[in-house]
Amino acid sequence: MTQDVWEGHDYLARVFDRWVSDAGAAFQAAEIEGVVVGLQRLRPFAPGLVWYEGLRVASEHRRQGVARTMLEAAIDEARAQNLREMRLATRDLPAVRLFESAGFRRIVEVKWWRGLRVEGGEPARMPEATEARKLWPFVASSRGIELYGGVSPDLNGARDLDATELERLARSGLLRVGPGGRALALLREPWGQNIAVSLLAGAGGALREVLMALRFEADADGLSHVTINLPPGHPAEEDLRATGYDFADAENSAYVYALKL
Ligand SMILES: CC(C)(COP(=O)(O)OP(=O)(O)OC[C@H]1O[C@@H](n2cnc3c(N)ncnc32)[C@H](O)[C@@H]1OP(=O)(O)O)[C@@H](O)C(=O)NCCC(=O)NCCS
Repeated sequence: MTQDVWEGHDYLARVFDRWVSDAGAAFQAAEIEGVVVGLQRLRPFAPGLVWYEGLRVASEHRRQGVARTMLEAAIDEARAQNLREMRLATRDLPAVRLFESAGFRRIVEVKWWRGLRVEGGEPARMPEATEARKLWPFVASSRGIELYGGVSPDLNGARDLDATELERLARSGLLRVGPGGRALALLREPWGQNIAVSLLAGAGGALREVLMALRFEADADGLSHVTINLPPGHPAEEDLRATGYDFADAENSAYVYALKL
């Protein structure tokens, strides 16, 4: 079913066994006459929030309303569980049409930047959880923060962006801070052999230091590169260019969508 998705690069085959055995999420199949024709997954990932992912319909059964029916069932199920909001990330136009027509609101758009590993420098500092909380006023007032729509666009699950989220990331070792706390990078679990950044705050010298330090960190960890998700038009674009990053994919964006339940 997934062989013809994304030119054979569908991640679903890789995560399939883990998804099937994960009791914390609902991995569902739709059948027509005993044959599986569709898949989807609902994963509660933060209080009141459910992440919707893995929607696939077998190519010979597309445009017959299978995806719409499955999505409606997922929304009903999330409502029945008194969840507050359903969120998801997508890059595909058919999916965008489906989700928008089902009432989902686009909250953030991101594009991919990439910086290759560089030898020789120091990785950025990882703040403690208590320090991370105190960095929130800086993040909340940093230039371009409104482009994130109040979420941290981690494409594995976009949580609300607040002091608690900074604290959570620090506890997981996923926060990097620049000199004087004047720049921050929020990391997420990567999909490949790289460091993945979901949000940048700050600008100028302090941010450039963090951006270089991430490239050094990739090298120190034996990873090939750093990928950074950034909303188009964000002021950090200039700092990314100045520190040797370029578009991994300038044409395509990923979007985070949300539906209030
Ligand atoms: C996206 C996908 C799940 C849609 O499945 P589907 O069963 O064909 O979708 P439906 O028939 O229920 O269509 C629902 C709506 O989606 C949109 N849509 C579906 N396919 C579309 C296409 N090829 N082009 C434009 N819009 C499309 C339309 O808005 C459609 O409503 P309409 O038929 O009233 O116009 C399916 O194409 C698929 O598996 N694609 C590959 C994987 C993928 O992109 N998954 C989504 C990742 S988030």
